[in-house]
Amino acid sequence: RGKRAFIAGVADDNGYGWAISKALAAAGAEILVGTWVPALNIFETSLRRGKFDQSRRLPNGSLMEIAKVYPLDAVYDSLEDVPADVRANKRYSGSSNWTVKEVAESVKNDFGSIDILVHSLANGPEVTKPLLETSRNGYLAAISASSYSFISLVQHFLPIMNPGGATISLTYIASEKSIPGYGGGMSSAKAALESDTRVLAFEVGRKKKIRVNAISAGPLGSRAAKAIGFIEKMIEYSHANAPLQKELLADEVGNTAAFLVSPLASAVTGSVIYVDNGLNTVGLAT
Ligand code: NAI
Repeated sequence: RGKRAFIAGVADDNGYGWAISKALAAAGAEILVGTWVPALNIFETSLRRGKFDQSRRLPNGSLMEIAKVYPLDAVYDSLEDVPADVRANKRYSGSSNWTVKEVAESVKNDFGSIDILVHSLANGPEVTKPLLETSRNGYLAAISASSYSFISLVQHFLPIMNPGGATISLTYIASEKSIPGYGGGMSSAKAALESDTRVLAFEVGRKKKIRVNAISAGPLGSRAAKAIGFIEKMIEYSHANAPLQKELLADEVGNTAAFLVSPLASAVTGSVIYVDNGLNTVGLAT
């Protein structure tokens, strides 16, 4: 039987989640995606109208099939956590069962189990503010959407994950080194995510022989990154200073994710793997 993957955080064909989905599809996995509720409509419409057909093409010429798109808002664990204003919001009231617990239940009802869980989402409402100017609410929102969301996904999907399965999340080097512009507590959120990778790897390794790793990715001009505002500068900086002076392709992150969740990486867990053209290793570039 082929493997089945749930990829949380796919809402267009530009980001890392899409590239990871493609790499897993190319390796023969069945693809389920979780799409942020406010982005669901446009994503499904674009898919249906063939807007992504070009970028759905796999190396063997076939098109990536997405077996099912689930609406998801990973800042809510169950329906009781959803505030009244969000429930009443038009973009949310049009769909149902989008809290993490409900999505895991729906996937169980539809497919029974999964082998691979991918977390490719982040959100920090105050990301453009320096940490020094970040509000408590902004900071906690960044942690909730970008770090706890991973714990929640692992917690709720674990019962339907097959032993030997694997999870991946996406992180950024601003967790370890100060990167001006990556504010709002997003640097803190990534530091939490990386620490949680090690702790969850131990816990779910012991419990179910499941592996937990993170990819620390270099800069990509995704929709989320454009919202931060300085992504073009980061891409230029990387090109000027990294050992490999080439564009970083989302597919390169996708391929590493495919390796990490495959049996080829059967002894790799609790690790943060850099896919950044080597930029993290440079002290002084000449
Ligand atoms: P993206 O825009 O393709 O992906 C982010 C996704 O998160 C979007 O689809 C958005 O709809 C979704 N999302 C936001 N809040 C959500 C919520 N509450 N519930 C469910 N989904 C939600 O952008 P990108 O850049 O590919 O981001 C994917 C991951 O890669 C993120 O964790 C990001 O921090 C990480 N990353 C990105 C880098 C970059 O330069 N683009 C560099 C290093 C890491």
